[in-house]
Amino acid sequence: MLFIHGDSGVDIASLAKKSRSLLKKAEDLKILEKIYIDLLGKNGEINLLLKNLGKLPKSQRKESGKVLNQLKNDLEGLFQSRQEQLKEIFFSEELKKESIDITLPGRLNESGTLHPVTSTIFEISSFFTSIGFEIASGPEAETDFYNFESLNIPNDHPAKDMHDTFYLANDSLLRTHTSPVQVRTMEKQKPPIRMICPGRVYRKDSGLTRTPMFHMIEGLVIEENASFSVLKGLLLDFIADFFGKDVDIRFRPSYFPFTEPSAEVDIKWKRGWLEILGCGMVHPNVLEMSGINSKNHSGFAFGLGLERMAMLKYDIPDLRAFFENDLRFLKQF
Ligand code: DAH
Repeated sequence: MLFIHGDSGVDIASLAKKSRSLLKKAEDLKILEKIYIDLLGKNGEINLLLKNLGKLPKSQRKESGKVLNQLKNDLEGLFQSRQEQLKEIFFSEELKKESIDITLPGRLNESGTLHPVTSTIFEISSFFTSIGFEIASGPEAETDFYNFESLNIPNDHPAKDMHDTFYLANDSLLRTHTSPVQVRTMEKQKPPIRMICPGRVYRKDSGLTRTPMFHMIEGLVIEENASFSVLKGLLLDFIADFFGKDVDIRFRPSYFPFTEPSAEVDIKWKRGWLEILGCGMVHPNVLEMSGINSKNHSGFAFGLGLERMAMLKYDIPDLRAFFENDLRFLKQF
């Protein structure tokens, strides 16, 4: 059967064949869409033929219209089923891209650990609390009185300059040591006293073995017969317990305004000695200023540098590493 398109005749059978095969072979939705528009769109081939029906001899028109409409319905159906197929292919490919491999190992939660400074404080504290010491604390922003004067360091004392103090507004300062807590404790408590105080201290100072903020642990014992030999025995026991190995130490006579006599303890480090603590018998002036009768009671005290203890124990070459918060460093503990 022939149709008129423009001036030429179109063979319906070959048009049907060509259209069917185009629709069936369309590779993706876009191509299919284009084929649809070319064939069945408003200006598509089929519609143009329908428009031209009037040019056929009257006797052919009815039959031809029927054949064309049938073809149109037929192609619509083909288009729809191909479209379904392609959509399915498209979605299953998208799903494949998004698929999750449930056999992959999961991301584990990282659990934190105690900072080495914190665990060293815990460790040292537990040694002293196990022999009857209590844990005390005091403010980091101190007054000149507690940080210096009450510890027998008057204003014109040269020891004051050695402290490299950070001064704050309103006559306060960042405490340069934990010794003020000795005085604060004696003011509040009656002897016998056995206390330690771990805490932060501040000095304008920096280097391999010094940081502007570091931790000290203060110790204070006030009894009727506190003696230097008990102090020395206690510190030797503590050092042996903390390092759990043989370390070379030396007691060296020293000077602190708040103790008399005074000593320092050094530990062998690299080719020299590293000072880890100061100690001594509490100066009678300090006892009296804190309201303790120096005739009935005596006392000893010590103050140790916490990071230095940890540095020696764990063989850390630079004390500043404690405060840089590099996880690779911190995770080793
Ligand atoms: N406070 C001293 C310092 O800043 C350390 C110290 C020395 C503490 C002797 C004491 C002590 O309790 O008796 O280095």
